[in-house]
Amino acid sequence: MHNGLDQDLKFLVNTFYNQDHTSSIEQCWEQILVNFFPETVIHKQASAIESSQLSDDTSRILIPVMNSNTHFELIHKNNEQAFSDKDIDLIDSLFNLTQQFASTREAIERGAHEERQRIARDLHDDVAARLLTLIHQVKDKKTIELTRSILKSLRNAIYTLDNKSTTTILDAITDIRAEIQDRLNPLGIQLFWQQPENIERFIFTPRQHINLHRILHEIVTNIIRHANTNYMHIDIELQNDHLHINVVDNGNGFDINSCIPGKGIHNIKNRVAELNGMVNWSNHSNAETGSNGCSIDISFPLTTQ
Ligand SMILES: Nc1ncnc2c1ncn2[C@@H]1O[C@H](COP(=O)(O)OP(=O)(O)OP(=O)(O)O)[C@@H](O)[C@H]1O
Ligand SMILES: [Mg+2]
Repeated sequence: MHNGLDQDLKFLVNTFYNQDHTSSIEQCWEQILVNFFPETVIHKQASAIESSQLSDDTSRILIPVMNSNTHFELIHKNNEQAFSDKDIDLIDSLFNLTQQFASTREAIERGAHEERQRIARDLHDDVAARLLTLIHQVKDKKTIELTRSILKSLRNAIYTLDNKSTTTILDAITDIRAEIQDRLNPLGIQLFWQQPENIERFIFTPRQHINLHRILHEIVTNIIRHANTNYMHIDIELQNDHLHINVVDNGNGFDINSCIPGKGIHNIKNRVAELNGMVNWSNHSNAETGSNGCSIDISFPLTTQ
């Protein structure tokens, strides 16, 4: 029934050590069973069992799945064939081996994760904090700009050190603001920025961070390209664990329903939807000052620390 130990052993070693770490241990276990019992089909059943069991008529084997509320049912493709106690022994040995592999993999991942967290913490608390102090102490504009961009790269590096890690909203907003400021300065567009205090208890997940960054990036690009303005205002507020962002420019304005949409607005809508949020474009005009422009409202729920 088996391919032969030389083939099976090779497969087993490959499964355990050349894994891309994206498949779960349950998928891995199923693969092993499929490979060792090629003449069978496997059904997943919704209940946990402790150990392998041979059915009374020897036509089926019930097999436990590690850390799961399910088990597998192994059935011969050819109904004539039967399973034996030897098959149960083999499955038990494979199960133990796979379980050991799972706990080794978990320990390695945990160790690597802790080490990345430690490096990220040191970089954030020590190096990034010193750079920030430097920005506040030096007077020379060029040095400030250079230090800011180093700080930005460092924050990105810290952030990507561990793609499971989260970032505080304050750090994220500070970075985004600095980037927008850097883009608007050479164009002579003035940026007014308001943000709430006491946002430390909130964190961004990596997706929230990336999405907000890209949304504001596109909004600013559109203002630079289409609005014909010298002023923009970003107002960030916190209400009922939701982040509200209002971006206003005093440019041409436009009608969201009749404009020719490009990729930008389409992507903004998709990103806001991924954040379970809402976005709305409107025109504002002030008869007294004679100013017009576009106003964009975005809101999405936050994650508490
Ligand atoms: N702040 C703004 N002021 C005036 N018009 C705007 C503003 N933002 C967007 N628009 C209008 O909305 C249209 C659609 O914007 P969208 O970002 O979807 O596409 P785009 O900027 O033309 O191209 P791209 O696909 O490169 O983003 C723009 O072409 C422009 O006419
Ligand atoms: Mg655009």
